[in-house]
Amino acid sequence: MRLAALRQQNWLILHDVDSLSDEAHSHQPGAWLFDPEHWRRQQRVTGQAPGRGESLFIDRGAEQWVLRPYRRGGLAAQVSEKRYLWLGAERTRAFRELRLTAALFDQGLPVPRPVAAGVRRLGASYEAALITVRIEGARALASRLSEGSADEALLERVGEMIARFHNSGLDHVDLNARNILIDDQDAPWLIDFDRCRLRAAGSWQTSNLERLTRSVAKFSPACDAAMCAISAGYDRAS
Ligand SMILES: Nc1ncnc2c1ncn2[C@@H]1O[C@H](COP(=O)(O)OP(=O)(O)O)[C@@H](O)[C@H]1O
Ligand SMILES: [Mg+2]
Repeated sequence: MRLAALRQQNWLILHDVDSLSDEAHSHQPGAWLFDPEHWRRQQRVTGQAPGRGESLFIDRGAEQWVLRPYRRGGLAAQVSEKRYLWLGAERTRAFRELRLTAALFDQGLPVPRPVAAGVRRLGASYEAALITVRIEGARALASRLSEGSADEALLERVGEMIARFHNSGLDHVDLNARNILIDDQDAPWLIDFDRCRLRAAGSWQTSNLERLTRSVAKFSPACDAAMCAISAGYDRAS
């Protein structure tokens, strides 16, 4: 992917050049990309993602986008829900996640194509959002586990997929059954690379899998069998 950065007043934007090429003729990529009101006015909001309910699905004609603002959870949210400490554009959550997702995408790994990261600087802090291409018809592995429609073959593919990411050095710090999506062809995808990074082999692979096991236990009545299938796929591909 070809990434380009631009500045517009107090906004810093990093985007995939090709995803926004049609925009260059009409209006330049800018802050409007990350403004939910802009998309609502254009009647392009087709829904919102499950979960915290902050992520919007946007109709772009040929494809759909997911617009996700960065939000803190837990205790930190009481300080400020949306603001993070400014340490330079490249150290923002959004720039990091966009660059990492682009690197994984370029390796042919099953991740959504990243479109743009937007950062609004507010003195010593910033707010940010990320746009990716929506994986059409995808549902969370969590839902498939809860309804008992994740068969052994599918779970083995999930395990193989995780091994491929691990072979590439991806430490996914929030590897749970909601961050694994299953498309309408029953193929697994990995999403949500906030705070994730590429690193040399270590003990983190095991931590990732332990995190996933706790998540699978939450959603699947047959957790042991599910993890057994995931591990079989993982071992085969690692
Ligand atoms: N590219 C995508 N295609 C389809 N759905 C997505 C995509 N990205 C995010 N989602 C949906 O939005 C939800 C939230 O996105 P995620 O990146 O996991 O952020 P967070 O968990 O931090 O809110 C996901 O659980 C998923 O349901
Ligand atoms: Mg998530």
